Amino acid sequence: MQLKQCWQTAGLALLCAILPVASLAAERPAILLGAAWYPEQWPESRWPEDLKLMEAAHIHVVRVGEFAWSRLEPQEGQFDLDWLDRAVALAAEHGISVVIGTPSAAPPAWLTQKYPDTLRTEQDGRKAQHGNRQQGSPTSARYREFCRRIADQMARRFGHQPNVIGWQIDNEYGAFSWDDDTHRQFQDWLRQKYGTLDALNRHWTTEYWSQTYTDWSQIPMGPGGNPGLDLEFKRFLTASIRDFQHIQVQAIRAASDKRQFITSNFMGWYDAFDHYVLSEELDLASWDDYVGSGHLDAARNGMTHDLTRGFKRKNFWVMETQPGSVNWAPVNNVLDRGEVRAMAWHAIGHGADAVSYWQWRSALNGQEEYHGVLVGADGTPVPLYDEVAQIGREFEQSSEALAGTSPVADVAILHSYDSRWAINGQRHNQDFDPVGLLASYYKPVREMLQQVDVVSADAPLAGYRMVIAPGLNVMPDDMAQRLTEYVNGGGHLVLGPRSAMKDAYNALQPARQPGPLVPLLGGRVEQFYALNEDVPVSGAWGSGKARLWAEQLKAQGADTLLTYGEGNGWLDGQPAVLSRKVGKGRITYVGAWLDNSLMRAATEWMIRLGGLEPALGPVPEGVEVSRRVGAGKEVFVLVNHTKTPQHVTLPRPMRRVLHDNAVTSTVDLPPRGVEVLLLGGRAIVPAAGF
Ligand code: GLA
Repeated sequence: MQLKQCWQTAGLALLCAILPVASLAAERPAILLGAAWYPEQWPESRWPEDLKLMEAAHIHVVRVGEFAWSRLEPQEGQFDLDWLDRAVALAAEHGISVVIGTPSAAPPAWLTQKYPDTLRTEQDGRKAQHGNRQQGSPTSARYREFCRRIADQMARRFGHQPNVIGWQIDNEYGAFSWDDDTHRQFQDWLRQKYGTLDALNRHWTTEYWSQTYTDWSQIPMGPGGNPGLDLEFKRFLTASIRDFQHIQVQAIRAASDKRQFITSNFMGWYDAFDHYVLSEELDLASWDDYVGSGHLDAARNGMTHDLTRGFKRKNFWVMETQPGSVNWAPVNNVLDRGEVRAMAWHAIGHGADAVSYWQWRSALNGQEEYHGVLVGADGTPVPLYDEVAQIGREFEQSSEALAGTSPVADVAILHSYDSRWAINGQRHNQDFDPVGLLASYYKPVREMLQQVDVVSADAPLAGYRMVIAPGLNVMPDDMAQRLTEYVNGGGHLVLGPRSAMKDAYNALQPARQPGPLVPLLGGRVEQFYALNEDVPVSGAWGSGKARLWAEQLKAQGADTLLTYGEGNGWLDGQPAVLSRKVGKGRITYVGAWLDNSLMRAATEWMIRLGGLEPALGPVPEGVEVSRRVGAGKEVFVLVNHTKTPQHVTLPRPMRRVLHDNAVTSTVDLPPRGVEVLLLGGRAIVPAAGF
């Protein structure tokens, strides 16, 4: 408030500029509500009204600029950042913080016309055109230089603005160019990595089909070829997007305050590049969370939040989400009344520290006229506006409770792009989707324990009591070594089907699965089978079906937990799941894709064995529990994703953060209702009974 008054008084502008950053930060809630705002699309005279409406909706942050290049640099080398400066300053007057997007996803027409080499080449050889977006080539040296220059200009102008809190590089990376220069870059990248063609030929087994290379220039650009080449092509793509990002990150870091974060908005499970690699130099991970057609699938969407939290292993932002509906799905239905709020709190429960709507108001023309918004083309609020304003109010109310808290988990699910790429390149059963396999483990674990991490297969594992690796198809020796150490250190490692079949070059391991982990397991895979019919399985976890994939296992010291029934003959009576105790640790190998109810039984067994407890306790089906912990507090976020009222009995009395901190032992959740509950923390210290 103080700050707003200060900004509103023009004479005190200088004072504002030198106010310690801490006082600005103190004004901002720990959890932010945001919107994508495009001031360049509207007359400046309209901006105050928009910002007033945003302030009334408790919007704390706007993202601006990411598609505004033609306004920021209307002619080559002529920069006009004044208008954006005025928009940022006006936002400050309304107490609104700003994230600046660099505009490299939408180069201006003069640029690509004058320098056609900056345009991407599509895989079929056609040049991308102006008029859509992402037409710039991320591998073009000239295009990168233009991107660096505009990022540098923006950083110099906004790098010390008190209400600019962060940067978004580009927008939803993923475009790639198939031109000759990029092809040469790929060959150079391979040369640097392998050193000699002998090494490359050996690792790729190029004697196969006479693929042997005698010159680096002979190597084609994937995908669709040798699995070794395909995997390296994905890694090269990752490296090239990382370089594209790095140039802008460097320009911004050089000219901006350290307190300003740098992020880029990812797209969930999108796998064109390795998000762990791109996240390394970012301060914050963020993603664009869209339901599209239908309604929120809390398990699937929660898994994507957890994936994003795993990129930096800390809280993240939802940089974009749908205000009701999108414009690009088969049916662009609006989420039910209350569902947008439920979805926002579901994000916070999973560790989001901001939820930002795309977009504030639709442009009068352009490809997205039909997309959901908070303010209509007429400039007045749409029906959803009030629900979003409620979310903003609630974020403020819960800010003190949630400050300094993050989700924590005893169980990690390991995820690897290398392995996904390897499986997707050779699915062997077209329905074998590695993300679907991961989800089959995630859903029951998340529901039963109410907390789980999804982290890179290279992440530190020591703190976890159980680690599930559903599909580590590519298993370099050092990964096998780390997993072995984890088990020897007392952890329970659960491997899914297709584990450890490949080495770091996407070549088959010269040993039966799980390759380097066979001695630890005391068992191995005799043969794998893609299934066109389910196969019955039964044993310690009850009975059910193996779907899509089944591996015939052989125990060599391990216990058999599940056995196949009658199927293709080869599998009949053979082990489907092996498990072996190793000191205080354990390794379990699940050789089949199990049906959902068997997966639940398996999860119950794992949880019981590990002595693991749910974060809160039993809740009715459809009620999602999330927990954030930190600064001496535990905060539970309960979301009723169903359309019927639900009742929850709490294990201990807690404070209702959204209801004046009243103490309660039960919670009645209306349809799509939300409850935020606090245990510990400053607010409850004086209260008796805690
Ligand atoms: C993406 C983009 C936005 C917008 C939305 C529409 O997430 O980043 O610019 O196009 O989709 O849903």
